[in-house]
Amino acid sequence: MNVTVNVNGKPYTRDVEPRMLLVHFLRDELALTGTHVGCDTSQCGACTVHLGGDAIKSCTVLAVQADGLDVTTIEGIGTAADLHPLQAGFWAEHGLQCGFCTPGMIMASAELLRHNPSPSEEEIRYHLEGNYCRCTGYHNIVKAVQHAAGAMSAAQGQRQEQAADD
Ligand code: FES
Ligand code: FES
Repeated sequence: MNVTVNVNGKPYTRDVEPRMLLVHFLRDELALTGTHVGCDTSQCGACTVHLGGDAIKSCTVLAVQADGLDVTTIEGIGTAADLHPLQAGFWAEHGLQCGFCTPGMIMASAELLRHNPSPSEEEIRYHLEGNYCRCTGYHNIVKAVQHAAGAMSAAQGQRQEQAADD
């Protein structure tokens, strides 16, 4: 059946099997391989993307369920020349080792920071409990999210100061 999904701001129409998972739609139909498959039990979080603005595990959603909706993947949140603050945070704090879990960690963390711009360490760990890092680099992952939260709040402060001056 035909589905149209808006991925990273662009509509894609494909004829898919009704049983196709969103993660396979992204990887196999659109070649967006930054979204990973790390398990077959919906536990690892490597496949996390945003669907309609919420972080979801794309191995738990059918492509047909995303018909007409907006999906954001790791490819859509920053560029090499203009990293998202979370990407910069993972870079600065060495928040990755093999990097397999990193896209999912970043997408899950982006949702956290949208709702809670200044999370505590405990809140970060709680929010990321559905994302596994097989390299067990959790300490630096938490630091990376804190780094991003600090950068985003500094940028927000600068914007407010600028608006007050204008
Ligand atoms: Fe989706 Fe592991 S691949 S949770
Ligand atoms: Fe290797 Fe997390 S960095 S799985």
